[in-house]
Amino acid sequence: MNDAPIGIFDSGVGGLTVARAVSALLPQESILYIGDTARSPYGPKPIADVRRYALEVLDDLVAQGVKMLVIACNTASAAMLRDARERYDVPVVEVINPAVRTAMSTTRNGRVGVIGTAGTISSGAYQDMLGVNERLTVFAQACPRFVEFVEAGVTGSPEVLAVAEEYLAPLRAADVDTLVLGCTHYPFLEGAISYVMGPDVSLVSSDSETAKDVYRQLVSRDLLAGPAAEPRHVYEATGASADEFLRLAHRLMGREVTDVRLVQTGAIDLPRASNPARRLG
Ligand code: DGL
Repeated sequence: MNDAPIGIFDSGVGGLTVARAVSALLPQESILYIGDTARSPYGPKPIADVRRYALEVLDDLVAQGVKMLVIACNTASAAMLRDARERYDVPVVEVINPAVRTAMSTTRNGRVGVIGTAGTISSGAYQDMLGVNERLTVFAQACPRFVEFVEAGVTGSPEVLAVAEEYLAPLRAADVDTLVLGCTHYPFLEGAISYVMGPDVSLVSSDSETAKDVYRQLVSRDLLAGPAAEPRHVYEATGASADEFLRLAHRLMGREVTDVRLVQTGAIDLPRASNPARRLG
């Protein structure tokens, strides 16, 4: 048994979809969430920069005593798939493996599409992992404007549909029967994406599958919180405004997130001693 929090990290608010799925499956667990809003979006940035930012935030979560790391950001997962597990003693769960596994077991015709940020798609992470299965043909498409729409709270306008039509046309032409939503923000556009792709295409998003991985890891390593644990959910953002994080979180998730602490990590680190309130009690 271990009552320490699960550390969940994303470039911003999108990873809250994963946090929500984890807390639905594991309501007795505490969660410490960091959104690196000071440096988001990660999608258009060079992969080496994303890797550095992600390591800084993950180091910070480990220093705060989390028992597990969840990289709830596809771009960060793609940037550091190979080294996060070697760097930390605590188990690391990311979002690409679970989505790939689900896509592999979902497709019937072996034609799988994947959409994501420019960074995720150009890293080739999804294509490599799906490509391990020789039965599959993979079609990848970056959809950079989708994140902009979600962050502006626009999820169902004619403009979203027009942009979705444009991005998704090659995947429709390729006759994919399964489409991986390889970005934390895309589940919020599921209506438009499903409308454009048609009812016969299965959409795979990683939040609930990632939560199952978290569950499996906690059970197999005897890390579940004890029956007397009092779960706490703490949200931290690295950007200048907690209000902005809260505004977006409320728009996307309802009123579940009630309080956001502002923190600084990595290159803009605060001396830890001057910031003691950050530790979970
Ligand atoms: N969280 C990012 C991802 O899943 C999307 C937002 C960003 O570009 O930072 O790829």
